[in-house]
Amino acid sequence: MFSFRLDAARSFFSHAAICALLAAGPVFAQQTGTRAQLASKELNERVESLLHKMTLEEKVGQLAQYSAGFATGPNESRLTYDQLVERGAIGSMLNVIGAEQTNHYQHIAVEKSRLHIPLLFGLDVIHGDHTSFPVPLAIAASWDPQAAESVARTAAVEARADGIAWVFSPMVDVSRDARWGRIIESNGEDPYLSSALARAWVKGYQQDDLTKPDSVAACVKHFAAYGAAIGGRDYNAVDMSDITLRQVYLAPYRAAVDAGVATVMTSFNSLNGVPATANPLTLTRILRKEWGFDGFVVSDWGAVGELLNHAIGADGATVARKALEAGTDMDMESNLYATVIASQVREGKIPESVVDEAVRRVLRVKFALGLFEHPYTQPGPAWTITPERRALARKVAAETLVLLKNEPVEGVGTLLPLKPAKLKKVALIGPLADDRVNLLGAWTTGDPKDVNTPLAELKQRLGEKLLYSRGSELLTGPDAEVLKHAVFGGSKAYEDGTAIEDDDKLIAQAVETTKQADVAILALGEPTNWMEGEASSRAHLGFTGNQQKLLEAVVATGKPVILVVLAGRPLQLTWAASHVAAIVEAWSPGIEAGPAIADVLFGDVNPSGKLPSSLPRSVGQEPLTYMQFPTGRPAHGELDRMPKDAPEKFQSRYMDEDNAALFPFGWGLSYTRFRYAKPTVNRAEVPLQEALSTGAPLLTVGVDVTNTGSMAGTEVVQLYLRNTAASVEQPLRELKGFARVTLAPGETKHVELPLGFAELSFVATDLHRTIEPTTYDVWVGGSSLATEETSFKVIE
Ligand code: NOJ
Repeated sequence: MFSFRLDAARSFFSHAAICALLAAGPVFAQQTGTRAQLASKELNERVESLLHKMTLEEKVGQLAQYSAGFATGPNESRLTYDQLVERGAIGSMLNVIGAEQTNHYQHIAVEKSRLHIPLLFGLDVIHGDHTSFPVPLAIAASWDPQAAESVARTAAVEARADGIAWVFSPMVDVSRDARWGRIIESNGEDPYLSSALARAWVKGYQQDDLTKPDSVAACVKHFAAYGAAIGGRDYNAVDMSDITLRQVYLAPYRAAVDAGVATVMTSFNSLNGVPATANPLTLTRILRKEWGFDGFVVSDWGAVGELLNHAIGADGATVARKALEAGTDMDMESNLYATVIASQVREGKIPESVVDEAVRRVLRVKFALGLFEHPYTQPGPAWTITPERRALARKVAAETLVLLKNEPVEGVGTLLPLKPAKLKKVALIGPLADDRVNLLGAWTTGDPKDVNTPLAELKQRLGEKLLYSRGSELLTGPDAEVLKHAVFGGSKAYEDGTAIEDDDKLIAQAVETTKQADVAILALGEPTNWMEGEASSRAHLGFTGNQQKLLEAVVATGKPVILVVLAGRPLQLTWAASHVAAIVEAWSPGIEAGPAIADVLFGDVNPSGKLPSSLPRSVGQEPLTYMQFPTGRPAHGELDRMPKDAPEKFQSRYMDEDNAALFPFGWGLSYTRFRYAKPTVNRAEVPLQEALSTGAPLLTVGVDVTNTGSMAGTEVVQLYLRNTAASVEQPLRELKGFARVTLAPGETKHVELPLGFAELSFVATDLHRTIEPTTYDVWVGGSSLATEETSFKVIE
């Protein structure tokens, strides 16, 4: 038997990070890496000396950011960027890409502006730059922080070569509402998983050292609690308790700050009545005072101006003052700081020290990035995605696929992995089988031309055996027209004149194609580039257009069906789950969509992805999370499916739907099977005083995991805790540890997962993190339904 300790370094970091969460309470974090760079004496002396030379207008200029390229929000174009840069009236630009364009403005800033302060160029590099990887929600499904780090690293290198030293990523908004389109950019529903990934993204971008020429400053967003928009409707208000805010929603931002993230972006929502862009509680008290953040805060696009719509002030001057004083340092695209701040300082309405502080923060990041020494970008040869990057994109994408279901079909056995030798014909069907734009996923800087589609890959693997039918359009009616003519990231999604075909005809063709095959693979989902991401909330969570009709028609042929779901949000797969034998959740996989999907379908890669978001049975369950609270009238089997014959009416449940998800958080099958032994703890009792006084692990939970099947496989071992008696009620289960373990057939490994203050503590009514004497129930297994159990106590 082989024994190892889980990723100790990362785990210690999480202890330090979360232990320092609140003003009072143990503080174990040390300033290292980027945090130390931003706090360094030498750097801050340079900042002060420059600040002293600046006029008020030049200071305010550093706080203005404009999009001098395409728009990623409602746009108001300004024509005179050259002159504004020369006057020192711009601190940063976004959406200006490539050495030629960025150098153009940088030359003006560095050579013609009075103080030669370089510009900082920012861009939404969300899941890779040119090498487009799976969307962030998919990467979260890998439960592999190293995968996230490698994606961020590749993206940083490519972005820097394009003149971009600042990426607006990672997005770590805890997202529990599948209606919200931006769930695609998130790490899903769980604060622990999201925090682990937040650290990895930041590390990949910044390498703990902003001065490296291929590091970029990361920007954690959207601060704060944007993912909890009421009703899943984008930009909507957020209203939540301070305890939930601190214990759940703030945790991943905090993890990013502890990992040294250089910048933070505000969110569009209001939080308990105060717009996030003018919220002194989150932007100053929590972020700066409690967490010690030394970087700068940028507003989201136009969010300073939109404070007028939030009606927290009657005029631009008032709302801009509120935003600046609350802690929003840079105004993205509103053009409001640039027009109203200086005059208010002159009139004595804003102390100049407030402006100085914001400028300091911006300059600190510019100095740390080495922009004063190396402002320009080497013009390079035209972009190619190297074979190594393509291989990485394929590996990461294959890791993100989640095998939701793989039940035997009578007379055939399990459909996956495919056994091509036994198949005469395979039908590939669906509008997403060959749709480069939508396979890339929402919010991409990649080029659809670089995408290898499932159709191309399966043709290569199966040759004449492959039959193909598109099956249906993604959307119907006017929406279909809109999609065909939409422009994404500056280029048209589809060729001009691409016709919209009649769905009834396409479905009939697909049925005929299926009848000629032994098995049908359906590639269905939603138009990720249109109905996912910003401003893309949905009230329905089924397949779009006539795809459900297509699915039902293909299933009605009686041929075995493998459903590959391509979507960046949890779709409602209820019908499919009871009518289709094999289902793979493939998200939006990026440029290597086809090869990665084929790798899993053919068994070259044994699937290991696990859901980072619960898949609902019905939209009425949203927002949905496994992390339910106890109630006075619990439903039978709370975490399990509701028994239909439940005798008692007065239970916390729906009368017409189960409480539980269709596929729960952490769920994901493999082509092999894993057996969990009963977990053990290395200490049954931990004294309270000790628990409160150290950031080091207090105990470990150990478990033997065995691969009982005949194929090597990787399992994500998950540890869930329940605090059974606390002054504030705690969830029925919370993820508090995980490890990816690869096992040969028949092999057993002993996995140890450490638990410390970060894992055992909760936010009490006084808003401080604490631990109380209690018993913790512990489950370890392959999903949030884990059944193998142990427990331990914290004693007086
Ligand atoms: C708006 C989005 O909310 C944000 O995520 C993005 O970074 C900015 N626009 C810049 O494009």
